[in-house]
This record gives sequence, structure tokens and C-alpha cells, in this order.
Amino acid sequence: MSEPIFTVVTPVGQIEEKSFSAFEVNGTDFVICRFRDEYFAVENLCSHALARFNEGKLRGHRIMCPLHGATFDVRTGACTGAPATRPIRSFPLRIRDGQIEVAVPVPANP
Ligand code: FES
Repeated sequence: MSEPIFTVVTPVGQIEEKSFSAFEVNGTDFVICRFRDEYFAVENLCSHALARFNEGKLRGHRIMCPLHGATFDVRTGACTGAPATRPIRSFPLRIRDGQIEVAVPVPANP
């Protein structure tokens, strides 16, 4: 298995404590969440009916879908509240030189 390829996404200071921001890299939509100065990246697509989390809420380590209220643990992508039952994807994240870097899948060559 190959090493993940990290992409610089945003400076650390751009995301406020207890909030999240949406980004897109390599055609993958994801959110970066900040809680207690830790950062987590999960896909920006609810597994229930494919809503975006943009207008949702972050409560501790849980992100809530704005459409029907399902919740997911941003540390793992695990579903933690109905009506969703399936997890969402989480992505490796690291901080280098004050920048948040995320490893999202690289599209396969056509
Ligand atoms: S689309 Fe997210 S809970 Fe229904």
C-alpha cells in the first residue's frame, strides 16, 4: 500500500475553535473541523441522503447534518446518531509549517 499524498489546504489559523470549514481537493469535498486545537477531516457528504454539512453544527467531536440531524464522529467518520446508519469517510490530516495538510484520494488516470 502506498503512502498517502498530503495536499496543503489552509493555514491553521483560518479555522476557528469549535467550528469547521468546507474545502475541495482532487474532486473530493470535505470539511476540516477544529475542537480543542485538534483538527479532523471528514467528507462533506452525509451518508443518509447525501446532504452537505455546510450549514450543520459541530458539538465536541460530533458533526450534525443540517438536513435530518444525523451525527458523525469527526475523529473516525463513525455514525453516532440516526437517521444515518453508515459512516462517512475520514481523511489523514497533519500540520506542517502552520499549514493544514489533508490526504484525500487521488483520482485514477483515465
Ligand atoms: S441527509 Fe443527513 S441526516 Fe438525512
